[in-house]
Amino acid sequence: MDNNDKIKIAHPNCSYRIRPASLKDLDEIYQIELMSFKDAYPISLLHQLLRDHDAICLIIEVGRKVVGFAFGLMRSENRGHIISVAVHPQYRNCHFGTTLVDRLISALKQRGARIIALEVRISNKIAQKLYRKFRFQIQKTKYHYYSDGENAYFMVLKLNS
Ligand SMILES: CC(C)(COP(=O)(O)OP(=O)(O)OC[C@H]1O[C@@H](n2cnc3c(N)ncnc32)[C@H](O)[C@@H]1OP(=O)(O)O)[C@@H](O)C(=O)NCCC(=O)NCCS
Repeated sequence: MDNNDKIKIAHPNCSYRIRPASLKDLDEIYQIELMSFKDAYPISLLHQLLRDHDAICLIIEVGRKVVGFAFGLMRSENRGHIISVAVHPQYRNCHFGTTLVDRLISALKQRGARIIALEVRISNKIAQKLYRKFRFQIQKTKYHYYSDGENAYFMVLKLNS
């Protein structure tokens, strides 16, 4: 990440580790998904993403417990997309979300992303704060994007190199 000096990632004393997710992690990922989103992705979709070699599926563990995940993929040659990021409610506000997004951006960049996009609920101010730290900017509003009718901000990060 270009602005790492301004991004506070989780302190190494938290003894966390980030690794690619495997199918064995599916149940824990799904539990966090259910606790995090009112319109949670079905477990079948998460399963599909974990099997998709084009998807980047990262998890963060504390000890042997999965406490968060970040999924992304390349939508075209140079356009990456963040599909989902969530941290277990008991582990939030410890910079794990920031650490996951930082790693996911790096991984997408390695695959050639020059632009990374995502959708976020307009009511989700914490996630917007997280993405703004990485210099994501709101590009447009997607109306009635979510199943309950809420609008989404389409946020975009343009990478320098
Ligand atoms: C959004 C989410 C992933 C953030 O994860 P997290 O580990 O708590 O985030 P971080 O600790 O890295 O915090 C990111 C920023 O948000 C701020 N923040 C986190 N929780 C906050 C809270 N409850 N109130 C106010 N600010 C908060 C932090 O202060 C931090 O900013 P800082 O670096 O300037 O201190 C997490 O809240 C979550 O899982 N939410 C539900 C799922 C979701 O909304 N995902 C995003 C979908 S687009």
